[in-house]
Parts: sequence; structure tokens; C-alpha cells
Amino acid sequence: MLQESALSDLRRLVGQANVLTSPSDLEAYGRDWTRVHQAKPSVIVLPASTAEVAAVVAYCQAKQLPIVPSGGRTGLAGAAVATNGEVVLSLSRMTKIEELDEVGQTIRVEAGITTQQVQEAAKQVGLFFPLDLAAKGSCQIGGNIATNAGGVKFIRFGGMREQVLGIEVVLPSGEVLDMNTGLRKNNTGYDLRQLFIGSEGTLGIVTRATLRLTPPPRNMQVSVLAVPSFESILQILSVCGKAGVQLTAFEFFTRAAHEIVLQHALGARSPFADKSPYYVLLEVEEGAGGIDVMQPLLEQIFAADLISDAVVATSSAQFKELWGLRENITESLSKHGHIRKNDISLAIGQLAAFTAELELEVAAAPKDIQLVLFGHIGDGNLHINYVGLNKAESFADFNARARLIELRIFERLARYKGSISAEHGIGLLKKKDLHFSRSEPEVTLMRQIKQLLDPANLLNPGKIFP
Ligand code: FAD
Ligand code: MLT
Ligand code: ZN
Repeated sequence: MLQESALSDLRRLVGQANVLTSPSDLEAYGRDWTRVHQAKPSVIVLPASTAEVAAVVAYCQAKQLPIVPSGGRTGLAGAAVATNGEVVLSLSRMTKIEELDEVGQTIRVEAGITTQQVQEAAKQVGLFFPLDLAAKGSCQIGGNIATNAGGVKFIRFGGMREQVLGIEVVLPSGEVLDMNTGLRKNNTGYDLRQLFIGSEGTLGIVTRATLRLTPPPRNMQVSVLAVPSFESILQILSVCGKAGVQLTAFEFFTRAAHEIVLQHALGARSPFADKSPYYVLLEVEEGAGGIDVMQPLLEQIFAADLISDAVVATSSAQFKELWGLRENITESLSKHGHIRKNDISLAIGQLAAFTAELELEVAAAPKDIQLVLFGHIGDGNLHINYVGLNKAESFADFNARARLIELRIFERLARYKGSISAEHGIGLLKKKDLHFSRSEPEVTLMRQIKQLLDPANLLNPGKIFP
């Protein structure tokens, strides 16, 4: 708990009602979606403007108080968890849309707005904001930028980095860095914006952003395919690539993931009579003039003997239902047992060899730890979830056993030069494993950048670096 004098100083900066100290607020704002570390912040501060963020940060700098920037708290790496009496600085009151430029196709927003609100604002004027993830109703643009979120449309539009034209950042000193010009072209020295994208709140607090919008894709057609082998998934991806169709999503999940969704997600039902080891969710844009590109594509895939069955959505209700089979995996897993999550990526060309090795680990895992695979396979991004089925076992005991399997998988991954985090980030959960994907010189350089911007180590301390 902070001293009463510090609390009254913070109340003076952001208003009495915007400094929270009740145990339920400390618990709710002090953590993200993970449940591994205990939340122990000392206070929650909710500024309403960049000037207030800067004042709070400058105050914390003067008093040497550590800060955890907080967005929608949907993060999956423990990066927004305050474990050590930090000041949690939440952007939740900064939700304004400041400008929507229909000609330039950009939107300027405050960083606390949710991803879904930006999607809806774009839609209202006939444009499209492409970052899409199941957490869109809660996660914030500032959080998306700080994690460089990926999501289910990455294959077509890229991740958050690709959508950001400009940002405004409050530095650990309290100085405001305005890189929010929204210019599409600007070669005037180093592109400093990129440093903050994916920096997990360790280098600055994002307060505003100008984002790129796109014309809306044509109608999207979605299909779920029953696939007999992992190799066939990759061959389907290859067929799609050569067919010249406009893929907007290429996701996969295993039978285990599918069955867990059927068990826990309200109203979920399998579109297939028979079970299949793998499923692919394929989304394509309709051809110009409403031409059906899905049907000929599926015929080609059937002809190549790559699937045992397929279902195509013929109504918007079915479209949602099929997407639900993929988007409900995370929530369903969390209801199924203890969970440890991996979020790895490989060059697409390495996937076949790596997954052959991964299958060995899946088969060798203890009976009460199920390895459930799903993810953005079209981007080379696999989510491996370790599910502890023994309800009597403590989370700590399960987690320690799952860690041993994880370490073996990370060692295999490092040999393929894969990444231990494709999109969720390092946070607290993966900092011991940074060396699997980053060389010593890289980590040293990252530490030097952190030291330069935040010499007192006050902004999100203890995150990313081992
Ligand atoms: P938080 O969890 O609040 O914070 C995440 C990190 O960002 C922390 O380090 C925090 O300190 C920092 N931060 C937050 N706001 C700011 C700011 N304004 N300035 C500086 N730092 C800040 N992720 C994907 O990439 N792809 C997915 O498909 C995906 N699907 C998901 C599905 C579900 C059901 C859930 C629960 C999560 C999913 N995620 C996914 C993870 C998560 O939603 C993303 O990482 C998201 O970008 C986090 O945003 P947030 O606002 O919730 O950030
Ligand atoms: C997803 O792709 O569904 C997300 O990244 C969440 C997760 O990995 O559970
Ligand atoms: Zn994901």
C-alpha cells in the first residue's frame, strides 16, 4: 500500500474517483488473463488524457514508484500483472475516436478504446479495421500495440505493427513523444515507432494511435475441413496459395481441441458425423461480382485427396457457428483443466519436420497431461496448450510437470530457429526462455535500449528480461 500522501497526490492528478484501492479493484486491474502470478498492486490510477498520464508518470519517476501499464487485461503472457506493489496505470478512460479520415482511410484514437469499437467505427463508414481476435471486445488498441497482436486475419492483413501509422507515447521520464503524424511515407532517420510496438509496456505508455483502415473485403466464405494428417494441412495451404484465392484466414485445430469446444461452448456442435484428427478453418474472399471461389477450391482439395469431409457456411448463422468452433477454443480450454500455454512459430517450410517431432511429445506425454494444438497455421503459428486433466492435482504441481515437456519442445524448436512467442509476448511467463529465440547480443542490445529510456527501471519492471 502506498503512503497516504502519495495517494492524495495521485488523486490530485487524476481526480478522487480515479484512484482505486479496494481489494477487488486491486485484484481485477492488477492482472491479465493468466492466472499464474498473484496480483499485488498498491493502487490503480485511471487518467483521462495524455497530460494526466504524463503527470502520473512524472510523479512516479520523482518518487521512484514502479508502474504497470494496463489495457484490456486479456494478455496471455503475464505482462500486465502487477506482482510487487506497483502503480497500475489503466488506459480504460481514454476511449475517444478523435478523427476518422475516410479519404486517407485512417482513424486516430485514444489508446484505451477496444479493438471492437475501432472495427465498428470503420464499418459505419464502409471501411474495415483488420486486426481481429477473440478478445476484441475487451482488449484495447494500446494493448494490441504493446503486444504487437497477431490474430486470425494476419495471413491477409498482417498484425498490429502493419496497422499502425502513428503513435503518441509517454516516456518513463514523463515526456510526451508525438510520433502520431499518420504519414504513410516518412524516411527521416530511425523509425522510433517500431521500438514501442511489441515492447510490452516496458519502454513507454501508448496514449494515442493513428491506424490504417482498408476497404472492406468482399463477402467472405468460410469452410471447415476434416483433414486426416498434419501433412495434408500443409498441402491444402499450398493448393490455396497456388490457386490465387484471397485467403483471409487459415486456422487449424486438432480433434482434442474440437471435442473440448463441443463439451464447454454453449450451443457448439460438430458439423461432421465422423471424427477427424485435424480440422482446418478456411476463409476466402468471394470473387469479383460475387463469384463463388470456395466451391472450385474445395473440389481441387478433394480431388487431391487431402480431406475426408468439408462443410461450407451457407448462412450468416452458420458462418458464426463455424467460426465459433475455432474462436471458442481458448475459453473452453480454461474450463477444461489446468492450462499452460505455448505460442510458437516456425518458418512454414519447417512446419512439417517440426510437427513430426512434436507428435512424438504429444504421444509421450503423461496420460493426465493432454497436449492440445490449434492456431494460425497459415502464418506458421502454433498454439500448444498443456491441459492438466487431474483435477485433484494442484496447479503448481501440474505446471512443474508441463514445464518439463515444454522445455523439451523449446529445445527442439530452437534447432529449427523458431520463436517461443509468435504473438502473445514474453511478459513474466516466458522471460526465462528468451534465450531460445534471441541471441545474447540481441538481448544485450534490448537491455541497453531499456536502460537508455528507463534508467531507473520503473516501467513494467521484471517483464521480458530474465
Ligand atoms: P493487456 O493484457 O492489458 O496488456 C498487455 C501488455 O501491454 C502488458 O505488457 C501491458 O503493460 C501493455 N499495455 C497495455 N496497454 C498499454 C498501453 N496503452 N501502453 C503501453 N503498454 C500497454 N493475442 C493475439 O496476438 N492473437 C490472438 O488471436 C489472440 N486471441 C486471444 C483470445 C482470447 C480469448 C484471449 C483472452 C486473448 C487473446 N490474445 C490474442 C491475447 C491478447 O488479447 C492480446 O495480447 C492483446 O493485444 C492484449 O491487449 P490488452 O489491451 O488486453 O492488453
Ligand atoms: C488464439 O489464437 O485463439 C489466441 O492466441 C488465444 C490462445 O492462444 O489461447
Ligand atoms: Zn492466436
